[in-house]
Amino acid sequence: MHEFRYIGPGLHCEGVAIERLVRDHGTPLYVYSQSTLEDHYQKLDRALAPLDHLICFAVKANSNRAVIRTLARCGGGFDTVSEGEIRRVIAAGGDPRKCVFAGVGKTEDEIAFALRRGLYAFNVESEPELERIQRVAARLGKRAPVAVRVNPNVDAGTHAKITTGTYENKFGIAFEEVEAVYARAARMPNLRLRGIQMHIGSQLTTVEPFERAVRKMLPLTSRLAQRHGFEFFSIGGGLGIIYREALASAGAAWWKSSAARGILTPATYAATLVPLLQPLNLRIVIEPGRFIVGNAGILVTRVEHVKRTGKKTFVIVDAAMNDLIRPAFYDSYHEIVPVRRKAGARITTDVVGPVCESGDFFCKDRPLPKVGEGEHLALLSAGAYGFVMASNYNSRALAAEVLVKGKRAALVRRRQPVESIWAGECVPPWLQSS
Ligand code: LLP
Repeated sequence: MHEFRYIGPGLHCEGVAIERLVRDHGTPLYVYSQSTLEDHYQKLDRALAPLDHLICFAVKANSNRAVIRTLARCGGGFDTVSEGEIRRVIAAGGDPRKCVFAGVGKTEDEIAFALRRGLYAFNVESEPELERIQRVAARLGKRAPVAVRVNPNVDAGTHAKITTGTYENKFGIAFEEVEAVYARAARMPNLRLRGIQMHIGSQLTTVEPFERAVRKMLPLTSRLAQRHGFEFFSIGGGLGIIYREALASAGAAWWKSSAARGILTPATYAATLVPLLQPLNLRIVIEPGRFIVGNAGILVTRVEHVKRTGKKTFVIVDAAMNDLIRPAFYDSYHEIVPVRRKAGARITTDVVGPVCESGDFFCKDRPLPKVGEGEHLALLSAGAYGFVMASNYNSRALAAEVLVKGKRAALVRRRQPVESIWAGECVPPWLQSS
């Protein structure tokens, strides 16, 4: 579900006109719907209700503190990958005891920080990391709660840059080695073996790869759980969302059209996985990022120029690959709609940013309504891995972010002042005299 739709001629987020937000805050502008975030969280929460479960939102998908706070108030925990993310969660009022800490390269300082804050578990990706956590925990006189991330070697069939569950990549410990690793970890006195974890990839649109991986993990998990007294099994994140024809399925129609198009919904996910997981009698942790926030955000941009070459129509907008890198990086599709609804013929269009790279595009050869300078476009389904992957490339300031709830809207991140881009830089003394 999401809450972006036309009311009359104007695109709205919940009860707020996007044109008003553009007037108040300028562009490029990320706009998030709080009700959509809450709805997605609650749909998952309800679907998993038969299990003792903890939903840990993957902060990497969208780390704005307003988003984190919304989910913390829903009762959520968080999947974090750096000290920065843990600090953000705490700053936003999230509970560190509901946080897991993942990542293949945690530093000693980060481990010490997480131990002092009392996180729920470290998701451990290698043996050297286990030894490192043991060492840091011993130094601090603590026992570190750990779960080994298992690589179940299941191909989720997603984009090469976001698949994680096979032996072709750097994540987790190979399925066949896991038991021996737990046996060694059990001898480390400052570790507490609290659970086991897997994550097979992102943007999975059917339940089938999850099912295969869970079925493969079940015997191992139940054996290890008994042996080591586990409390939880994390089945990772990865639930996919609709990117194509996203607008057409606003509101409740969303779930119906998802189901009709065979796309994963919390109900189908749970219908398959809950009965498999129930006999384990463990707490089930999930780490969704995209599912919760992906369709809850859009990126609004202004048309600067329309440029016609012999072959093409380029709509040049004021957002660029530095604001939303997914099309350039993953060839990903984001639906693009005008903020003011337009009738009339569609024109085959490339929507591009101003950056001097051919990768700086949002769509190619797509039939879009005719737009002109000063009009606005919205790139949909941009809430996950949008702002968080933005950069200052071309010394372009980071966009502003707004959160909407009902008829209210608030700036949740002001547009970056351009001088702050270089505020941390210094000119060395030998270059200072003229
Ligand atoms: N858990 C772990 C261990 C992960 O590595 C990830 C994402 C998640 C959970 C959350 O996955 P999600 O539910 O959001 O699919 N930047 C890429 C996606 C990278 C995903 C990285 N790991 C994109 O824009 O598509």
